[in-house]
Amino acid sequence: MITRADSPLDEVYVAGGPSSVQLADETAKLLRAKQIRVDHKLFPDGENYFKLTGDEVAHNVFVFQSTYPPQDRHLMQLMLMSNKLMEDGVKVVAVIPYLAYARQHRTFLLGEVVSLRTVARMLASAGIKRVITIDIHNVEGLGFFGIPAHSLSAVPLLADHLIANESMNRPFIVAPDAGASVRADAMATRIKCEFAALEKSRDRVTGETSVRMPQGIDVAGKDVVILDDMISTGGTIAKAAQLAREKGAKGVIAACTHALLAEGAMAKMKEAGIRDLVATNTVPTPYSKVSVAPLIADFIKQL
Ligand code: R5P
Repeated sequence: MITRADSPLDEVYVAGGPSSVQLADETAKLLRAKQIRVDHKLFPDGENYFKLTGDEVAHNVFVFQSTYPPQDRHLMQLMLMSNKLMEDGVKVVAVIPYLAYARQHRTFLLGEVVSLRTVARMLASAGIKRVITIDIHNVEGLGFFGIPAHSLSAVPLLADHLIANESMNRPFIVAPDAGASVRADAMATRIKCEFAALEKSRDRVTGETSVRMPQGIDVAGKDVVILDDMISTGGTIAKAAQLAREKGAKGVIAACTHALLAEGAMAKMKEAGIRDLVATNTVPTPYSKVSVAPLIADFIKQL
């Protein structure tokens, strides 16, 4: 017997939340899935209003809502949409291309809130049955959800874009810290070049970071790609770019999945010698050169 929760793929519906309308639309087209109509407005005092139509016939709905800034508003919007669909008997899968708060996935200083754990509990309590995200900061964070949670990697798509669009002379992939080295390794394998992880230290109170090139690594005359999961203020990439230039790199390109680009990040990175930034559309920006829609669509087809 097929239950509502186990409906076949042709009964997949997509709902595009306010932060991910275009990505939802693109993915729905690839899946040839029907769409739930999402009417949304903000009241003058900042509260959200939603009207969702079409869910009376939908069994499985993939709600697309990235939680880039303003993070809390985007999270609340996801909660409101998901909870409504759950109340109507729908199995809700949340597609959260950029998952906010993922950097605070453990306690670094006494008394700190493990923010991601709270976010994960909130989302599950709204009735979400599964979560799909892209390049979560640390996969450990997936364990907080208590429901199936998946992080897909956009690195192969970023690598393919670089191969096709950037003229790179002796490419070399740099991870700005040890945490980014798995992704850098994956990109280097795809591009067929070498990689290294910089030695980064961060003052946990001030947030100040410093980086060093590991011994024996030579980037002189090479085109360096600095790859990170996200760029916020651009400080990490700027420091890595400066170091690469000091060590004789020919050109420096920044690549990331989530380009949050807070506080004049682009200007800071350009000043440090970045010639280009390649990012995905998990956060829509002028640098969203790579769409994650095919990645999400392929994954949904396999569910
Ligand atoms: C931290 O570990 C992350 O992977 C990024 O390196 C960091 O969030 C980037 O932040 P920012 O651009 O402000 O240096």
